[in-house]
Amino acid sequence: MLYDQVVEATQAIQQHTEVKPALAIILGSGLGDLANEIRDAVAIPYSEIPHFAQSTVVGHAGRLLIGTLSGVPVVAMQGRFHFYEGHPVHLTTLPVRVMRLLGAETLIVSNAAGGVNPAYLPGHFMLLRDHIYMPGLAGGSPLVGPHDERLGERFPAVGKAYDAELRALAHEVADRYPEITLHEGVYTMVAGPSYETPAELAFLRTIGTDAVGMSTAPEVVVARQVGMRVLGISLITNSATGSEAAEVNHAEVLSTADAVRTKFANLVMGIVERIGAQ
Ligand code: 6GU
Repeated sequence: MLYDQVVEATQAIQQHTEVKPALAIILGSGLGDLANEIRDAVAIPYSEIPHFAQSTVVGHAGRLLIGTLSGVPVVAMQGRFHFYEGHPVHLTTLPVRVMRLLGAETLIVSNAAGGVNPAYLPGHFMLLRDHIYMPGLAGGSPLVGPHDERLGERFPAVGKAYDAELRALAHEVADRYPEITLHEGVYTMVAGPSYETPAELAFLRTIGTDAVGMSTAPEVVVARQVGMRVLGISLITNSATGSEAAEVNHAEVLSTADAVRTKFANLVMGIVERIGAQ
């Protein structure tokens, strides 16, 4: 049973540390550097945690860190699991259930995304106000399967998945940094791993997409099922519109992420500090 796997993974992690994290963080492609800011961190490779998959993507380290960030006890995933790696979707989201069971009540989830809104430029950030979960709409939700009460509700609501108070707080932090541009918009998750064709991007724009990526929505759906507050942040790594769309590649995604790592760290650390003061 999935629930038993969650418990086993949680107990294995608890053997490494007594810290009870209040906050969970998922670090997206190229954004794993923030992990260096976690104090007194215990790092556990995913290979040592029962039922965790391995992250196979360049730019994703593949370990769990537990320590203190901006004074707040946190658990952070340095590297996440994607459906396109071949993992069943309910296993890509197992770490969210584990982080909740470890004690985390809030999730900050980040990703690298293509800007579909023409105003979004590489190096900008976007807070997720809402998402369009393309595979989820078509039967690919991690909640598909036999229901187990211990995992949460059968039919969780996700209409307010992205906490308005946390978004307001994030804007306040971003306002302190003139070099940070922080939009707020709709993230569409596609399964990948190929990037989108121009026709697909035109379609995504038509349906209301501001940024497109290959992660996050499954994790957020599970986080809501287990009752976590969620803040989602996309780093816009490339413009997915116009002639540039053909040029996008993973190296470009990683190099944009690398160029903004200080901005990203400042933004997230400022947010965590504010959450800790709540
Ligand atoms: Cl253009 N598309 C998708 N699906 N994911 C991305 C991206 C584009 N840029 C970064 N991640």
